[in-house]
Amino acid sequence: MGDSIPLPLTMAAIFHAPGDATGFNQYGRFSNPTWDAIEHMLAHLEDAPCVAFPSGMAAISAAFFAVLKAGDRILLPSDGYHTTRALADRFLKPLGITYDVRPTSTFLDGGFDGYRVAFVETPANPGLDICDIAAVADAVHKAGAILVVDNTTMTPFGQRPLDHGADIVVAADTKAPNGHSDVLFGHVASRNADIIAAVTGWREVSGSIPGPFEAWLVHRGLETLDVRFDRMCSSAEVIARRLQGHRAISGLRYPGLEGDPSHNLARAQMERFGFLISFELASEDKAEDFINNCELMQAATSFGGVHTSAERRLKRGDAVPAGFVRLSVGCEPVEELWKAIETSLDKISS
Ligand SMILES: Cc1ncc(COP(=O)(O)O)c(C=O)c1O
Repeated sequence: MGDSIPLPLTMAAIFHAPGDATGFNQYGRFSNPTWDAIEHMLAHLEDAPCVAFPSGMAAISAAFFAVLKAGDRILLPSDGYHTTRALADRFLKPLGITYDVRPTSTFLDGGFDGYRVAFVETPANPGLDICDIAAVADAVHKAGAILVVDNTTMTPFGQRPLDHGADIVVAADTKAPNGHSDVLFGHVASRNADIIAAVTGWREVSGSIPGPFEAWLVHRGLETLDVRFDRMCSSAEVIARRLQGHRAISGLRYPGLEGDPSHNLARAQMERFGFLISFELASEDKAEDFINNCELMQAATSFGGVHTSAERRLKRGDAVPAGFVRLSVGCEPVEELWKAIETSLDKISS
């Protein structure tokens, strides 16, 4: 009856709370109708209850603090997003939670005995190696551990780790889900009610809460995620194929290329091949020139936005060569984008 069709934004720290304080919104650290709306939409995409957080790292922290205790041991990818390892090293280790690392492509090797949590990121950022989520989930469960999957590089439209047996999905909605590079956000998804209760409790007590306006913006982003993700993946496939033939490029990685080490598993496990491509250029200078001189490319960290962006990842401390570039394909018309990329590559190789 005349209600607004766009999601209303509820900016409120307090709500009317007369009498017994149960069953309704009372205080902005406990609940918010705009969070409810985005969690409802995320839950629909994940096919699992979701808890929203103010960033991807806040979601990852929540998953760890909800399930770990002193004396636990966890296993992380050696080639995934570096801040997850920094979290373990700087903040979990001093609390008596130890960690080991393993490459994503051989994550199964060595088994999971003695671990409380195994954490994978597939495809791993920035090298784009992948691991078999179902096989890892099976082995992790046999060892009595929990599998957490960081699905940031794929989104629920590209890969469904819970369907492959993961216990928890964490994601940085800062990337493609919001898609407009103006907000940080994250979520935890799980079909285990105890885990969701613990993660929700962590948010309430730690105060790691998303702002309602950020939730509103990400909600708007999610409404077009399917369309944007489809475009970005389709364009990435076209661009990766053409990059294969370019003389300036070596070490090209894209799971959608038939010759890529990730390809066969990617076909079996992923709905799409994603919008990230990585490769090497001959030197730091050439990589910087390629990125900075390309008319349709933003020199920026992060990925998944509507604008194509790229970064030389050694800058952020990843264990990669100086000329290693991670390219995030955006929503620009693919032929124009390719022309800009090719022109910039030609310049550095002439
Ligand atoms: C794979 C992955 N997970 C988590 C994060 C953390 O997300 P945020 O920056 O929103 O905390 C990032 C950020 O780049 C990422 O690439």
